[in-house]
This record gives sequence, structure tokens and C-alpha cells, in this order.
Amino acid sequence: MSQSSKRRVAVVLAAGKGTRMRSKYPKPLFEVAGRPMLHWVINAAREAGCERCLVVVGHQSELLKAAFADQDDIVWVTQEQQLGTGHALAQAEPHLVGEAGTTEEVTLLVLNGDVPGVRASTLNGLAEAAERGWGAMAAAELDEPGRLGRVLADGHRLERIVEAADASPEQLEIRLINAGLYAMPAPSVFDYLRQLSTDNAQGELYLTDALGSAAASAESGGVEVVRLEDADEALGINDRRDLAKVHRVLIERHHESLMADGVTLLDPATTSIEPSVRIGADTVIHGGVSLFGHTQVGEDCVIHQGCWVRDSQVADSVQLHPYSILDQAEVETDCNVGPFARLRPASLLQTGARVGNFVEIKNARLGQSAKANHLAYVGDADVGEDSNIGAGVVTCNYDGVNKHRTEIGKRSFVGSDTMLIAPVRVGDEATTAAGSVITDDVPDGALGVGRARQRNIPGWAEHKKTRAQGRKTRGPKADGSKKD
Ligand code: UD1
Ligand code: CA
Repeated sequence: MSQSSKRRVAVVLAAGKGTRMRSKYPKPLFEVAGRPMLHWVINAAREAGCERCLVVVGHQSELLKAAFADQDDIVWVTQEQQLGTGHALAQAEPHLVGEAGTTEEVTLLVLNGDVPGVRASTLNGLAEAAERGWGAMAAAELDEPGRLGRVLADGHRLERIVEAADASPEQLEIRLINAGLYAMPAPSVFDYLRQLSTDNAQGELYLTDALGSAAASAESGGVEVVRLEDADEALGINDRRDLAKVHRVLIERHHESLMADGVTLLDPATTSIEPSVRIGADTVIHGGVSLFGHTQVGEDCVIHQGCWVRDSQVADSVQLHPYSILDQAEVETDCNVGPFARLRPASLLQTGARVGNFVEIKNARLGQSAKANHLAYVGDADVGEDSNIGAGVVTCNYDGVNKHRTEIGKRSFVGSDTMLIAPVRVGDEATTAAGSVITDDVPDGALGVGRARQRNIPGWAEHKKTRAQGRKTRGPKADGSKKD
């Protein structure tokens, strides 16, 4: 911001009914790239230096307020009846009255709440352009302008905006559209809003008409049309097809920035990494990978085909093999996970630990270099360093009422198919025999055996043959069946 620039306040218009979403939920709360669409617009306004953000809301406003309850720079403005975008902006005026009792002199960034692709740099450009004249609006050249408002301009000077519903066939041919992002001065804009009429196809008070009036006014200084280089910034969400498109735009933008920062995405088209996810340089992401939320991945990792990771911390040099799932898990350096592993909330794999196929970990720690390589369930457990969990081991943590913990010491060996009936402890350097049901603690260094002793019955094959022979000589039974 230059020294001369005026204070900036954002007004986000988000009270529309969003009828074309065909939903019982308010449109601004629909998520794109992991956050409500309204979040992206508000964030861009903040980054562009807006000191406050007035959000105009209508029906179901309680849901919106609840979703943004932690953000105290938002002022909620109610528009009881949705009479159009011009009417929506007019509702903001009482909230801009300063201590002197007059409307504050600020630059308003007026933003449609359903245009989440907007960048802060674009809003800065709009605010600066507005301060050169009266106001400014963002426009983009689209191949399929659809139902968007058409911009009639003389070079960079706006003449007026014609809504698609009101446009002539020739005007519908215009591909320059109104993005729904504007900068304009308060209090002047409110004077133009008071002159609006509903004499149009939709019977609404159009904000766009106020811009047309300001543009036409000899003394105003004119409205500058700022053309967006990236037309994706102008994409509004009116239905679920738009939602899918804008979601992909925001995801791809993040992919681009990750690649620019040294992350390899081998097949970005089948990958989905939310903008909130951080990844270190020289990490390689294969196709079909989805990374969500507060996930952080270190450097030199490889995330193979089909992994799904949410809100997890993955340190450097970790290999996530194909189709592994991590949810609120923490994985330290040099660990190997999968293929087909599942780390559930509060799982911690310490340095060099390995979790193999069809292993589920929940609320459990695997110490340094510990291994659970095949077909195991390790839940509510603590496994010491260098211990080995054999194939088919289950921590029986739930007795039908309560959960209990299993403790396994260092360098211990839990034999295949051991059932550990929690609460129970297997000591340091202890072993359990394969197939054991361990109900009592196994002391340090001991072998725990909890299974029936094997007995062998000699001549069993011969015995079976003799029995079969006997059945044949007895012939069929009276009811005709051959079975006995
Ligand atoms: C609007 C513009 C159109 C532009 C398009 C860009 C007008 C008249 N038209 O059309 O020129 O190309 O955006 O996306 O402004 N809203 C309210 N209260 C209302 C009506 C709407 O808060 O009474 C909010 C909506 O929640 C939405 C925004 O204003 O976030 C735009 O309204 P919408 O009905 O989507 O307008 P468009 O038809 O998309
Ligand atoms: Ca819209």
C-alpha cells in the first residue's frame, strides 16, 4: 500500500439464496479446496489490507456465524430480504458510521461471496485503481460467459454492466464479464445505491447499475475496468458444476506453487493436495494421492500411488507405500509405511519404525525401529524400540465396555497371532509364543506361552480309510441318502 492510500474495508455479499445449489445448507459454507468458499474471499480481503470485513448474510446466518465464530475481524450484517446485490451493499452503511456520526471515508472492497478464486494481489490492484478515479471493477474474457453480467467498456473505462437476463442478443455475444469484485469509495457509493430501481428482468436492485451511474457521472472520475490475466479468478459458484471447477482451480494453484518450491508431483491431474498442506523440497508424490488439512510432509519423502493423508505430520525421508491411510498420525524420519497400512488418530511412529500391509495402528506408539509388518491391530498400545510385532497380532483393547492399554517393552518379540488381552504388559526382551492368548504380564526377558499343548495322534490317515470303508459296505440308508 502506498502512503496516500485510504483505509480499506471489505464488504462481502453472501446473503443470496443460492437456489441453484439445490441444497438445504447455505451456499457460502460449501467447501472448496478444504475451506468454506466464504473463507477464501475473506482471506483475500485480509491479505489485501482490509482492516475489517463486513459480511452481508441472510437466511441461515446462524450457521455462518458459528462457522466463523473464531474470527473477530468479521462484522455480520443482516439483509432480511434478498432484494439484490445493490440492496445487500446498502445494508453495510449503518456499520460504517464513525464516531462523528457520518459514514467513514474509506475504500470499500465489495466482493461477491461466491468468487473464491480471487487473489489478494487483484484486490490490491482494484483498490489502487479506484483511488485513481471513482471506482474499479474486475473483468475477465471468458469463452463461455453464460449467465454472467456483460461489461460494456471503452478501453479501460466502464460504460455500464448489463445482466445476462437483461441483455440483447448482441450484448450476449460480449465475452468480457463482470467478475463480481469491485473497489469503490464510501460514502459516495451509498448515494448511488439510493437511486437504484428494480426496473429490470429480475426485479432486483442491482449493484452493477450503481457502477453504471458512477461511470456515467461527469464529475465522479470514472470506473476503471481491471482485466484479470487469470480468468479463473472470476469464476463464481452458482451450482455444483461451478463448485467442482473452482475446487480444482484452487487445488491446481497449490500444486503449481508446490512444484515451484521443489516438490515433485508425478501426476498432478490425479492428485489432490489442499492449499493448507505443507511439503518439503525433493519429496516425490505419485498419482492418486490426496493430502488434506493440516498435513505437513518433510523433505525427501516418497508418497506412492493412492495414499490418503489428513491432519498428519510426516517427517523427512519417510516412505508411504501405495494405498496407505494416515489420519491425525505422526511419523518420524526414515519410517516405512504400507502398502495398505492404516494409521488412525494419535498414532506415533518413531524414527525408523516400519508398518506393513494390512496393519492398523490407533492411539499407539511404535518406538524407534520397531516393526509391525503384516496383518496386525495395535490399538491403545505402547511398543518399545526395536520390538517386533508378528503377523496377525491383535491388541485386544476393548472388553465391550472399556478400552485398556497394552505395553510392550524394548527389543521384545511378539510371536505371530498373539492375542494380547489388555490391560497387559510384555516386558523388555520378552517373547510371546506364536498363537498365544496373553492374559497376564510377561516379565522382562521371559517367554510367555498361552496356548494348548499340541498332541499328535499316530495312524490317523489309516483310521480315516477304515471308517470310510465301513460306510460303503453298509450300503444306502432307508431314506435313500448316502450320508450317515
Ligand atoms: C452477479 C452480478 C453479475 C456478475 C456475477 C459475478 C449483479 C446484479 N450481478 O450476478 O454482473 O457477473 O455476480 O459472479 O450483481 N447476494 C446478496 N444479497 C442479494 C443478492 C445476492 O448478498 O440480495 C450475494 C450472493 O450471496 C452472492 C453475490 O451477492 O454471493 C452475487 O449474487 P448472485 O445472485 O450470485 O449474482 P449473479 O447472478 O452471480
Ligand atoms: Ca453468483
